[in-house]
Amino acid sequence: MKSLACLLLLLIPVAASADDGARLFTPCRACHSLDPADRGLPGPNLSGLIGRKVGGDAAFDYSPVLRKANTDGLRWDAGKLDRFLADPAEMFPGLWMSLRGVEDAADRAALVRFVSDPASR
Ligand code: HEC
Repeated sequence: MKSLACLLLLLIPVAASADDGARLFTPCRACHSLDPADRGLPGPNLSGLIGRKVGGDAAFDYSPVLRKANTDGLRWDAGKLDRFLADPAEMFPGLWMSLRGVEDAADRAALVRFVSDPASR
């Protein structure tokens, strides 16, 4: 019985990862939406982010560093988003987004999944 309880405890974090993504994205909602119809937030719209060019919300006025990344043709993929979330200002010095960075790799993975996969929401 004891070992079954241990096994269940081990499984819980995996099973809860979709919820983790939603929970971790909650502070981002102050500035970002994943609904393409949402406009007027302080940050760019993040719908369809993966595969999209960096600085790719045409309605948003980006900082010079993201405008340059856009002109350079940089595109978001899961690996880039993970690196960005770990330390946004390290990846794009001069970024107009004051986010400390998400230290925990599992938290970042849950966030990347949540942002990139509509089915996970
Ligand atoms: C206080 C507002 C604010 C919060 C909170 C915030 N962001 Fe941002 N975010 C911005 C702004 C503003 C930009 C554009 C920065 C620039 O132009 O330099 C941005 C840019 C981005 C980009 C690049 C988008 C693109 O079109 O290339 C991503 C990805 C992103 N944020 C993800 C997140 C995530 C995930 C969170 C939560 C963990 C978050 N942000 C929290 C304001 C915010």
